[in-house]
Amino acid sequence: MRVLSGIQPTGRFHWGNYFGAIRQYIDLQQADEAYYFIANLHALTTVRDPASLAGWTFEAALDLLALGLDPNHAVLFVQSDVPQVSELCWLLMTGAPMGLLERCHAYKDKKAKGLTADAGLFAYPVLMAADILAYDADTVPVGEDQVQHIEVCRDLAGSFNHQFGEVFVLPKAKLLDDSARVPGTDGEKMSKSYNNTLELFEEPKALRKKIMRITTDSRPMEEPKEPGDDVLYQLYSLVAAPAERDEMAALYRRGGFGYGEVKKALADAADRFLAEPRERRAELAAHPDKIKEILADGASTARKKAADVLQRAQKACGLAAH
Ligand code: TRP
Repeated sequence: MRVLSGIQPTGRFHWGNYFGAIRQYIDLQQADEAYYFIANLHALTTVRDPASLAGWTFEAALDLLALGLDPNHAVLFVQSDVPQVSELCWLLMTGAPMGLLERCHAYKDKKAKGLTADAGLFAYPVLMAADILAYDADTVPVGEDQVQHIEVCRDLAGSFNHQFGEVFVLPKAKLLDDSARVPGTDGEKMSKSYNNTLELFEEPKALRKKIMRITTDSRPMEEPKEPGDDVLYQLYSLVAAPAERDEMAALYRRGGFGYGEVKKALADAADRFLAEPRERRAELAAHPDKIKEILADGASTARKKAADVLQRAQKACGLAAH
């Protein structure tokens, strides 16, 4: 089984990215063959500052490796280092029904807001299909918001196969577990667009400060509280050890403690949780050539696979008959 997923370098990764996706990608690298890439071509549809795009792409690699992505178990690469994907994207673009793409939410939502979209955003799902099909991936772990795109991928692959023969493997979406609630500092879902994130590799002091400023409710200290409903507890349970978590839950149910204490416990637990990744990240950051080498190796493996698939597709549709 080959697992594949992409992650856009549109900013620094936050707790929501980690607990909602990255952690699960890392878990999957053990059991299956895994391809993970940094989707800078997709990010180009929104990030138009070259230094930011390049910086976030590199940092994404650094973060993923620091968090435990193991290049001996997973192929890690940057999307644009595999030009075969862009070629394959064109093949799929011919034969991609306008109506199908018009219904895709990224484009549709932008249009609904009265904004003008560009062709890149419109074709976004086709590029994503090329990403998946280029490596004969069969399992694509994604969040709920990307399931529609996997369906589009299956449609495009299916109709190409129908016209030209069995060229592409039809992939399946594997829905990421989103049961861990990751609230932002304002209690809403953590998201860059809400400006409420706790970044994973924020300076430890800045992180602590942000935690101390998290909005809490105004119930009196003495009142027993249901831990599951509380933002601080939800965040705490992500980074605390199970025994610590249970103790904290008992404290909530008993009542008679202050949110200040919980915030401090949360900041301490985050420090413990992040200690190892921070250390690994610092080590890696001191050797940027090593990161570049890992990405170059990943790209070379990915290109070999993608070149095979592209050739298969070219032959099938009459582009490589001469
Ligand atoms: N569009 C995906 C996202 O925003 C990222 C992505 C690009 C991707 N290509 C992919 C995910 C291929 C899975 C497979 O999350």
